Amino acid sequence: RSIWLADYQPYSHVLDKAELCFRLAPKGTRVSARLHLRPSAAARGRHVLRLDGEALRLVSLRLDGQLIDLTPDPTGLTLPADLLPDAPFVLETEVLIDPVSNTALEGLYMSNGMYCSQCEAQGFRKITFWPDRPDVMTRYTVRIESDLPVLLSNGNPTASGPGWAEWHDPWPKPSYLFALVAGDLVACRDSFTTMSGRKVDLAIWVRAGDESRCAWAMDSLIRSMKWDEEVYGREYDLDVFNIVAVDDFNMGAMENKGLNIFNSKFVLADAESATDDDFARIEAIIAHEYFHNWTGNRITCRDWFQLCLKEGLTVFRDQQFSGDMRSHAVKRIEDVALLRARQFREDQGPLAHPVRPESFVEINNFYTATVYEKGAELIAMLKTLVGDAAYAKALDLYFSRHDGEAATIEDWLKVFEDVTGRDLSQFKRWYSEAGTPRLEVSEAWEVGEAGEAGVYTLSFTQHTPPTPGQKQKNPRVIPIAVGLLGPNGDEIRPTEVLEMTEVQQSFRFEGLTARPVPSILRGFSAPVLLARDSSAAERAFLLAHDTDLFNRYEAGRSLAREMLVAQLTGGADLRATWAAALAALIRDESLDPAFRALTLRLPSEDDLAQALSERGHLPDPEAIRSARRAAQDLLAGGLSADLPGLIAGLASDRPFLPDAEGAGRRSLSAGLLALQTRLDGGAAARQAFDAADNMTSAIGALTALLDIGAGGAELAAFAARWQQDRNVMDKWFMLQAALAAPDQAVELVAELAAHPGFDLKNPNRFRAVFGGLSANHAGFHRADGAGYRLLADWLIRLDALNPQSAARVSAAFETWPRYDPARRALITAELDRILATPGLSRDLGEMAGRMRAAG
Ligand code: ARG
Ligand code: ZN
Repeated sequence: RSIWLADYQPYSHVLDKAELCFRLAPKGTRVSARLHLRPSAAARGRHVLRLDGEALRLVSLRLDGQLIDLTPDPTGLTLPADLLPDAPFVLETEVLIDPVSNTALEGLYMSNGMYCSQCEAQGFRKITFWPDRPDVMTRYTVRIESDLPVLLSNGNPTASGPGWAEWHDPWPKPSYLFALVAGDLVACRDSFTTMSGRKVDLAIWVRAGDESRCAWAMDSLIRSMKWDEEVYGREYDLDVFNIVAVDDFNMGAMENKGLNIFNSKFVLADAESATDDDFARIEAIIAHEYFHNWTGNRITCRDWFQLCLKEGLTVFRDQQFSGDMRSHAVKRIEDVALLRARQFREDQGPLAHPVRPESFVEINNFYTATVYEKGAELIAMLKTLVGDAAYAKALDLYFSRHDGEAATIEDWLKVFEDVTGRDLSQFKRWYSEAGTPRLEVSEAWEVGEAGEAGVYTLSFTQHTPPTPGQKQKNPRVIPIAVGLLGPNGDEIRPTEVLEMTEVQQSFRFEGLTARPVPSILRGFSAPVLLARDSSAAERAFLLAHDTDLFNRYEAGRSLAREMLVAQLTGGADLRATWAAALAALIRDESLDPAFRALTLRLPSEDDLAQALSERGHLPDPEAIRSARRAAQDLLAGGLSADLPGLIAGLASDRPFLPDAEGAGRRSLSAGLLALQTRLDGGAAARQAFDAADNMTSAIGALTALLDIGAGGAELAAFAARWQQDRNVMDKWFMLQAALAAPDQAVELVAELAAHPGFDLKNPNRFRAVFGGLSANHAGFHRADGAGYRLLADWLIRLDALNPQSAARVSAAFETWPRYDPARRALITAELDRILATPGLSRDLGEMAGRMRAAG
């Protein structure tokens, strides 16, 4: 049942071109396919032909026009070698599929009366019999027959008439990039002229009524197209670019050639209904999917083990884009916070896997933070190691050498080796070995003889703990960006990149007149855990003085974390140092409000549980919550005289703009309002909620209220205003689940799941409610196991309809080995109950099995 990278074999045949015809009907769509095949050079002589196919009703099968009588097996169709010519031939199939019953949202399905497809990774085999693997690429001609007014597929439109439309995609592509949409949709249109003068018609297709919420996505698309030309020299290659918004979608969005399909929550936005975070995410995801046109589509993956080839690189590119559009420091801080919260958590638990996995049961379970976010970190490290100029050259070579191909990580690394002459075999371990390296640092200072300069030495030791299936780890190449500060806070050595390759290594800094304060891992130059015993005073010093904005933030974060860990484990009391340092930063109006807002944010309860378990302590969820809230109270108390003035100073009477400047102000304002709410019982937040003229401010105020157990009236008002709006109501469900008091969360979530607005078939709603529950650390981890039980009950229910979404949400259980024996027993019992469910999907079965195996 496991598929192995080591077993890769090229396909037996070449698919020269293909014609598809869809006669759409909700319960019986008829798909005819003509595949123009020939034996590949490698597989000359007679060879069986294997086609993938699942849940298809085969109506007819013809080889060069001749009917053949063959019965498919549950996963496909094998044509025996003696039937096949040793020359080009045409295979025609006709199948019936049932889009209405497709609740898995993979293949062709229906959402609110609209036909929609999702083929990555292996959904095309649920549409027709096909070599459904990314290294089989071909040119598609598609005909769609339906009475629906809008009929879309990949490539360029070639002809249409009443009840039909034809599309041709001139670019060879694998089946996972196929897409089809049919519905009663309206378009928001614009156009873009590429650098060589090609005029591209742009359209975002939405339900009537949503047209007014497309402007931001369109603007983001145009900026993405321009940016990819300017920064990577990549031009768009079709006459049209279409985006469709759909409410029922398993993931964020999909880069189908010329026809991107988006979860509607990542397209639709206006000031009233979307927060600044929504706007930023839309900008990033629009860019991400657009950038895939080159990194993913023009150059695709040879097999699914190479998923990071397109995802890591494309995430890296979208991060660069967002940094250019907004602030690089703020973007980096946000990205690292996400990496630590999701990927470090994954890497430290039973689901840890290499950026390029070696085996899988269900590939959909590997669209993970490790493949995406850590994959992007590997690109960032490569760029740091080779430098910007060599990176640009290597990318040019990658695009010219592999255009039109299905490539591998080896191909990717080879372009860097060829451009720089570097040997990247050690670097490659980052792709094959799972786990987060721990980097220990010690330092030495040798005072010079009278009149002579001193020498400062930094010594590093790297160690990566074992992960499932990988006991022994090898030393990695770690780029460590370091700068040195002098005793009064000026930078005495600018950033330099130390290249660590051994288990243990020292670096000397000569010619110093006084002992420096080191600023290590600037910009988070490698995805490692930095373990360094430094004093609270030193962290406060860096928080006040570091010239690297990321490390300045990092000093504040680590100071807060050490303070809270000490509170929870009976260590020294660091509260006064922390509160004073943070208050000084908050009051410093010369600093970007967005930066101050991020530094103000305390580590989450889950982050603290992770920090405790890294240090060998058992996290107590209730105690973590109390310590964290006590720290907020302390900070609020210390700032009480300043808060109203600071908040008022951040207000603006300009109309809402979703730009970085406005978002930063609103973000700091919301952080301060949350503190104020802890002092005034909610008076200021109620006022702010009533006065809010945009969703960001409304959600900020509502969050502050719910966090102190208030906000009932505001919740009701919110629901009354937004009940018709699915995407906005997801926020209503999510906030309640995530912010309920620990002893009420489980009951509340059970009620939300019984609410008439709850819809098991809509992944966003499920994620809002149950993702909300698992984000409620103390509520989910309630000592009697009720949180675990409730989640398992609903995962089992969802699995019967939508295995992929059930499997994703099940990762809420991945942290179980951190906790005390009683909680561990409760969680593993739920995993066992899931595993014992009759008819359990491959998706959820693999996830529960991997999590359980850690015991
Ligand atoms: N390639 C898409 C993206 O990163 C993700 C689609 C994943 N879908 C899935 N069913 N695994 O933008
Ligand atoms: Zn992607």
